[in-house]
Amino acid sequence: MVGVLFVCLGNICRSPSAEGVFRKRVREAGLAAHFEIDSAGTGGYHVGRAPDARAQRAALRHGVDLSGLRARQVTAADFERFDYILAMDRQNLAALEALRPPQSRGRVELFLSYAAGRVAESEVPDPYYGGEKGFELMLDLIEAGAEGLLERLIEVHGLRRA
Ligand code: 4NP
Repeated sequence: MVGVLFVCLGNICRSPSAEGVFRKRVREAGLAAHFEIDSAGTGGYHVGRAPDARAQRAALRHGVDLSGLRARQVTAADFERFDYILAMDRQNLAALEALRPPQSRGRVELFLSYAAGRVAESEVPDPYYGGEKGFELMLDLIEAGAEGLLERLIEVHGLRRA
């Protein structure tokens, strides 16, 4: 099993959207049995909440239903449970590096490092205080990241359809 955890600040916009989009791509590739996929926030303000309504609407336009997800905060155990801990921006990356127990297993990286060559951006901007356009950009960047990530993980882990 390959464990992938998507991380943003609130776990109500970017990381649940990335979780939903990546799950869909993994399912469509016939690889669901090979993955454990989840998302979490570095902050705790929105714990227990469903994804932001604007994120849910944007995700639905990409064929992804986020309504069943609930926000949670990153824990020390996540660094052992997941192989890839993927931050949406540099602020989240720094927070993860600070939380990370010494010698833990998971790699902590910027999510969009997997979209290099597909998009120019290296971070998924926080859309929370902006308009609907920010949510569209968020979904486009996430689609590019999810595509690059799945391609890389298939290659690195030698994954085959079940
Ligand atoms: P997210 O977006 O990190 O993509 O879930 C945010 C959600 C809430 C806040 C900031 C960003 N907030 O400050 O409450």
